[in-house]
Amino acid sequence: MFSLQSLSVPVVGAPMAGGPSTPELAAAVSNTGGLGFLAAGYKSSAAVAAEIARTRRLTKAPFGVNLFVPDHANTYRATTGTTAAEKLAAALAFRNLLATGTAAGTAAEPGLPDPDDDDGWPAKLELVLQERVPVVSFTFGLPAPEMLAELAGRDICVIVTVTDSAEALAAADAGARVLCVQGPEAGGHRGTLDSAKVPGEVSLDRLLRGIGQACDLPLIAAGGITAPADAAAAAAAGAAAVQVGTLLLLSREAGTSPVHRAALLEAAQGGRFSETSLTRAFSGRPARGLTNAFMRAYPDAPDAYPYVNQITAPLRAAAAAAGDPEGVSLWAGTCYRLAAEQPAADIVRRLSGR
Ligand SMILES: Cc1cc2nc3c(=O)[nH]c(=O)nc-3n(C[C@H](O)[C@H](O)[C@H](O)COP(=O)(O)O)c2cc1C
Repeated sequence: MFSLQSLSVPVVGAPMAGGPSTPELAAAVSNTGGLGFLAAGYKSSAAVAAEIARTRRLTKAPFGVNLFVPDHANTYRATTGTTAAEKLAAALAFRNLLATGTAAGTAAEPGLPDPDDDDGWPAKLELVLQERVPVVSFTFGLPAPEMLAELAGRDICVIVTVTDSAEALAAADAGARVLCVQGPEAGGHRGTLDSAKVPGEVSLDRLLRGIGQACDLPLIAAGGITAPADAAAAAAAGAAAVQVGTLLLLSREAGTSPVHRAALLEAAQGGRFSETSLTRAFSGRPARGLTNAFMRAYPDAPDAYPYVNQITAPLRAAAAAAGDPEGVSLWAGTCYRLAAEQPAADIVRRLSGR
């Protein structure tokens, strides 16, 4: 089974759904001695199968596939207990607000929430089992222990993203082999196992130390890692590897959309987007991105993933088609100014101090 110790460069290229993750990016990271990732979220299992095949043509090294855990498959005991019906009702109220609002600045109609859409969960699980990809990581929830055991039975290393010690202990109990510890500076969605929870602000360093005391699984440190000194600090706090997302968003191999790239470049030059913040406005789950007009217009969007994501999809598509960065999700972590238009291999090598 894959082990982080086998990496010649202890750097994980974060899975980044919605465009940035590509087979080329995953392979570039793995070919540099790190662990590259494909992001299966929002894609059909057929599309993920094609990406796995392409990645295998581009690298002989291990790589991972990341899956979003739908609410119905999440075994983490939620502290809040928002029911599916309550989420749907909140999402529909948010849809009404969007339909009457003007902040999106587009003529597109909000989409309809679809309770039957589970992001192709069973088919994607079957795919990674059949394909025996070396590493599978989960975010947004904790699959049943039986599922994690089945993956381990196929020699697949299971990683679960966690954001605090309680989640780490639950993931360890369920059979995770590695934990990806995500700190508050991370770009994109927070991987809280309970969607209603407001993600904590405890620093990555303290999180790693606390989780390291609570369980003895290998840890990957994610969030705000930009330099060899950050990687060294994470290692000193107990991490076996670091995971970087934002740093790779402008890499040549990333499939980051033109509007997202342009906004990141503008932000780096001190232009329009001068900060990041957490929002539920685009998807219903807390995520960090460059603060834009849509985020500012809807600060009270409900805890209603994936419904809010489905509802905003046509609005985001229309804004992207119009090249309007104020109406699309510009996911990025606090280190967004350091994303560089370079080959991913150079970024990974620099991080490892080579
Ligand atoms: C654009 C973007 C998309 C992301 N998509 C995913 C995803 O699909 N699955 C996942 O587990 N994490 C996702 N993340 C979070 C990363 O795995 C990781 O936690 C984060 O990028 C680390 O922090 P950094 O952005 O400061 O490097 C995403 C992050 C970004 C920036």
